[in-house]
Amino acid sequence: MTAKDYADGAKPGAGAVGDVLCRLADIPDRDSRAFTVALNGKAREIFAVRLADEVFAYVNVCPHRQMPLNWKPDVFLAYDKSRILCTMHAATFDIRQGHCVGGPCPGQSLESVPVVIEDGVVRLGACADWAMKP
Ligand code: FES
Repeated sequence: MTAKDYADGAKPGAGAVGDVLCRLADIPDRDSRAFTVALNGKAREIFAVRLADEVFAYVNVCPHRQMPLNWKPDVFLAYDKSRILCTMHAATFDIRQGHCVGGPCPGQSLESVPVVIEDGVVRLGACADWAMKP
């Protein structure tokens, strides 16, 4: 799949290293987007946060109670856009590292999803640990 394939705005079912998630321009700066990726035939929800020319992605599962973080589609940031927010019990996470920085799960982190940006396109990156999970 190429960025051109994605031009219609459809969210692809990416799952392999190098698969396209979206164009960088599809995520406004200091905003987030959700995606469904297919790993080993199983759908997993992930989300990506853009900070200028960088993108950080995580599995959409809060380490506190193993629940999705968001209740509104594509909304994963606190009101001031400085941290990732779990809307269930208000845990907050550092955008760059995914570490819990407030709320009920200190010492825990979101599960990172590697992404790379090439020619303005955000793709899944290589990470054996993540790719091997069922
Ligand atoms: S499930 Fe996320 S803070 Fe409780």
